[in-house]
Amino acid sequence: MVISICQAVVTYVPLLWFVRVTDGMPDPAQRDLLMRQEAFRQTGGQVALTATEQKLDAYLHHLKEKEMSAAQFPPAIHFFKAKPLIQKSSIFKMLQKMPKGAALHIHSSSLVSVEWLVKNVTYRPHCYICFTWDNSVRFLFSDRQPFPRWDCFYWQLLETLRAKIGDPTGFDNSLMQHLTLFTDDPDGEYPNQDVVWEKFEKAFIAAAGLITHAPVLRDYYYKGLGELQLDNIMYLELRSGLSRTYELDGTIHDKGWCLKTFQEVTKKFIEDHPDFLGARIIISVHRALSVSAVKAAVKEAIQLQKAFPDIVAGFDMVGRENSVGTLWYFREALSLPAEMGVTLPYFFHAGETDDEGTDVDQNLLDALLFNTTRIGHGYALAHHPLAKELSRKRNVAVELCPISNQVLKLVSDLRNHPAAVLMSEGHPMVISSDDPALFGTTGLSYDFYQAFVGIGGLKANLGTLKELAVNSIRYSSLPPHLKNTGYAMWQNKWDAFIVDHS
Ligand SMILES: *[C@@H]1O[C@H](CO)[C@@H](O)[C@H](O)[C@H]1NC(C)=O
Ligand SMILES: *[C@@H]1O[C@H](CO)[C@@H](O)[C@H](O)[C@H]1NC(C)=O
Ligand SMILES: [Zn+2]
Repeated sequence: MVISICQAVVTYVPLLWFVRVTDGMPDPAQRDLLMRQEAFRQTGGQVALTATEQKLDAYLHHLKEKEMSAAQFPPAIHFFKAKPLIQKSSIFKMLQKMPKGAALHIHSSSLVSVEWLVKNVTYRPHCYICFTWDNSVRFLFSDRQPFPRWDCFYWQLLETLRAKIGDPTGFDNSLMQHLTLFTDDPDGEYPNQDVVWEKFEKAFIAAAGLITHAPVLRDYYYKGLGELQLDNIMYLELRSGLSRTYELDGTIHDKGWCLKTFQEVTKKFIEDHPDFLGARIIISVHRALSVSAVKAAVKEAIQLQKAFPDIVAGFDMVGRENSVGTLWYFREALSLPAEMGVTLPYFFHAGETDDEGTDVDQNLLDALLFNTTRIGHGYALAHHPLAKELSRKRNVAVELCPISNQVLKLVSDLRNHPAAVLMSEGHPMVISSDDPALFGTTGLSYDFYQAFVGIGGLKANLGTLKELAVNSIRYSSLPPHLKNTGYAMWQNKWDAFIVDHS
């Protein structure tokens, strides 16, 4: 291991018993000790920094103080407004260069920037568009005029439409608006969680016609890995429903085809970029399905994992937790692997809510009872002492996606994010971006910025960043030998990063 983190349980001496009070004044030496003890517990608190690293850490601290005292503090305002400020931040620029390890919580339909989807994919031949009655769009690649559908009466060839439209840039921008949540007026457009989730689901559906075209999917995966690699990320675990893909003549491919394509593209990407470690898939199904449909999906996932053991990491359920089935509701389906005596690792979204005491809130404990490997979001975890203890004891990491939580309106000022509690006690944790294309981010640097500057505050230091990066390999689904390869690759990159910044 590169970082010597003392895993042993530290015995916390009941210090306060020893605090000597002289003339009402607490002992400064004891005070100092208590402060160091507390710092020791936080994420990265036990990471030993080299002399060079300490110098960089001091510089980062100085930069952070400056950003915190500026008129506008980016983590305190909505990301859509904060983004241009963050792009100017020296800390952010450093985070972009920093080797961040792995992205463990990203959804496949939001992996690649919408700019590329519009400027590249919609300009390909045979791309049809249709404007729906509910002010959304659908895309379809077809070698003939597509038939009307229930949601789409009139398909137009984009090439023809663009030729008729005077303002192609304006038109392309309007297409992008359909594919992302990003807007200049987030508070006006998204007054509450329901509205923002509705737009969220709409954007997914709009993008589907582009992404599920077989030749596009290949390029899409490749481009997605490229965007991550540019942000100094070396490994990906992608949540995907493995939607059916289609060819120009209407031929449909199944989930196996999708996994095989993903495998081939990843292999090609590694050939072209030998410092990239790889990518795996977490098969995900929507919570809106029935119990019997989820049962079938679990069985299918078991089969697919058998057929693609290197690629399939496990299983998850996606969609807004509030609106539809809880994990307990699907208990019969989720118990199937254990009943059948097979292993299907779970990577459940759980506790992505600020409504305490609801069924959704309960998902956290249920995720742990179903032996989840990690917890997606775990936003509510800080309020569940028992679930928190279990997750810590079993080393079940929380996948913290700060910008997602803010855009989906769980918290507005990220300094108030409950993960501040988890970070202060060094809870197992990784940083991820959830739906980068929808939120207008790329890679992990924006979310690292929010976690490091906003949630971690002045306490978070270079040791914190180092531990978060190493955690992303440690808590990945990779087998031990590949984790070791990953640690070694990461350490090399890290050493180079430190040299560059000293
Ligand atoms: C679109 O993307 C593909 C694959 O990434 C690339 O080969 C091609 O040059 C791009 N085309 C345009 C017009 O940017
Ligand atoms: C969870 O793990 C425990 C201990 O290994 C095992 O007994 C139990 O059957 C597992 N539960 C499920 C639902 O997989
Ligand atoms: Zn998610």
